[in-house]
Formats: sequence, C-alpha cells, structure tokens
Amino acid sequence: MNPPDGAPASAASPQPQDEASVQDVSARLRSLEVRFREFEKAFGPELVTDTALLGWTRDFETLVTLMEEGRANIAQLGPHAARVDNIRLNGRQAIAKLIQTTPWLTAETHGEMQAIVDRLPAYRQVGPYRFSSDWMSKCEPDWRRVLAPLMGRPEVRALEIGSYEGRSAIWLLENVLTHETSRMVCVDLFAAPYGQVFDENLAASGASQRVEKLVGLSGSALRRLPPEPTFDLIYIDGSHKAFDVLEDAVLSWRLLRPGGVMIFDDYEMAAHHVPSNKLDRPDIGIDAFLSAAATQSEVVLKAFQVIVRKKELTSQP
Ligand SMILES: C[S@@+](CC[C@H](N)C(=O)[O-])C[C@H]1O[C@@H](n2cnc3c(N)ncnc32)[C@H](O)[C@@H]1O
Repeated sequence: MNPPDGAPASAASPQPQDEASVQDVSARLRSLEVRFREFEKAFGPELVTDTALLGWTRDFETLVTLMEEGRANIAQLGPHAARVDNIRLNGRQAIAKLIQTTPWLTAETHGEMQAIVDRLPAYRQVGPYRFSSDWMSKCEPDWRRVLAPLMGRPEVRALEIGSYEGRSAIWLLENVLTHETSRMVCVDLFAAPYGQVFDENLAASGASQRVEKLVGLSGSALRRLPPEPTFDLIYIDGSHKAFDVLEDAVLSWRLLRPGGVMIFDDYEMAAHHVPSNKLDRPDIGIDAFLSAAATQSEVVLKAFQVIVRKKELTSQP
C-alpha cells in the first residue's frame, strides 16, 4: 500500500492481513460502484430508497475504515484508485450529492449520511498545501527519470490540461520548473470549490507569478494559445473521455517543441474500472493519437501513463 502523504514507506507500514482481505476490498469497491450506477440509471424514489442508500453509505464507510486501518491492500485496485484519499473523496462527494438530490428520503437517513460526510476529512494538509486527492504520487518515479533533462533548466515551458487543486502543477514547479525564468500554463474549468483551492495552493507555493491560468474547456482554451511549438512538456489530464483526450492531444501536439515530451494519464484506467459508457476512457483517444502521430513521435513509456517524445523536425515526414 502507498504510505500516507509525507510518511516514509517503512517496515511499520500497514500490510494486508491475508489474501482474503485483498479480495474483499476489491469486491466491496466494485459492489459500491455497480450499485451507484444503478442509482444513477433509475434515479427516483422507487429505487433510491432509505434502505438502499443507507446500506450503500454504511458499506462505503466500512470500506474506508478497512483502508484507513491498513486492513486492505488497495494497491491491487490499480494506481488510479490506490490512494485512500481518492476513494474517500469520490465517496464523500457522491454521498453529499445524494443528500442534495433525494428530497424524498427521511431526515434520519439524511442525518446519518451527513454525519459520514462530516466525519471524513475533505482535505489533507501536505506541507503548506491542501489537497483532497492524490493522482500525483504514482507518477513521481517516471517523471523524475524522464524529466531529469529539464530539471532546473532556464526558460522551460510546461502546459497542463487538467490542474484540479494544483497537485501535479506544484510538483512540476517544485521539481522541474525550478528556474525563475521557467513558466507554466494551466488549463482547467477551475470551478468551485477546487478552483479556489488551486489559487490558495499556488499562492502557498510562491510561484504563482510564473503560472498562467486558462479558464474554460480545453477544446476552446487550447485554441486561444498561439499555434507555435513553445512548450517543452505537456501533461494531458483533463477530461477522460476518448474524444476529448484525442482533441487535447491533437490541439496541443502543435504546441510541443521538437524533443519535448507529452504525458497522458490514466491509459490503463479502464483495466481497473470498466466505464459504463464505452467512450469514457482515455486509452481509446490515446491509441488513436499514437497511431496518427507514429512517425513524429517516440514512445518513451506505455504503462498507466503514456509518455511520448516529439521527434526532431528533420525526421518528420
Ligand atoms: C484528474 S483532475 C487533474 C488532476 C491534476 N492533474 C493533479 O494530478 O493534481 C482532472 C481535471 O480536469 C478538469 N477537466 C475535466 N474536463 C475538462 C475539460 N474538458 N477542459 C478543461 N478541464 C477539464 C477537471 O476540472 C479537473 O480539475
């Protein structure tokens, strides 16, 4: 299991008790997801009853308790889900939304659900920053290796599509774009409340003057950037729908310098969480892009993330 933020991995790290507990947590998460999708499909008083929602909410709380107590090996769920913070955030948000959208439930049911929302922390303090999730730690070893040549260099330019609360952006600012002349563009909807958390985290980083925010859907935001290859690094982690990922890749490829790297997140997401909509998965868009850009790119990594380097102009057709 990944250690909690800031905690070193050590022999004292909680270990799964046995294989049975590993299976158990995976099945529990799957059951929660399937039932939640059923609620969504037939949303209304007939299916979304007090009994059904209380059962779902209590099962979610049990899962969180198992994970928090180190009684489950969530690493088996894949890198995307393998953080207690991420599962807790998703469930907490789902319960909060369900409370708002089910006026037919009793006050007792809502009260019990609200108590869980109140009990689970919305954020974790990581140094000077406040984050509700962690999609970054899993990338660190690969990013350190692939981005080493850019680290500390002057005039490095990075583009990030999908910044959320700024966790990956701040990692880049602290580890790669460390030179005072290096700059970053962050594209996101920056909706409430995470847009404000992004601003606060960026202010705490002391690097906000080196970051330009582009607010809006990436499809239109990327078209506002001058269509010249000025970026050394592009991270695509916005919408996870196949068409959107493909559009983000196509629109930003022309902005990448020859020799620059483009990183895609969640390539293997569907292997761990099969989406209900067939196109709600990035890998289809990433594969389509890799095929189209095959002669212009070199694949550096193809795992949970995909990293490609743009070939120098001379070798392009
Ligand atoms: C997984 S989060 C990004 C996480 C961030 N890179 C990190 O590791 O901390 C995805 C973000 O993409 C944004 N997003 C989703 N669809 C988008 C779109 N079509 N255009 C712009 N941003 C989008 C969401 O608002 C969300 O903040």
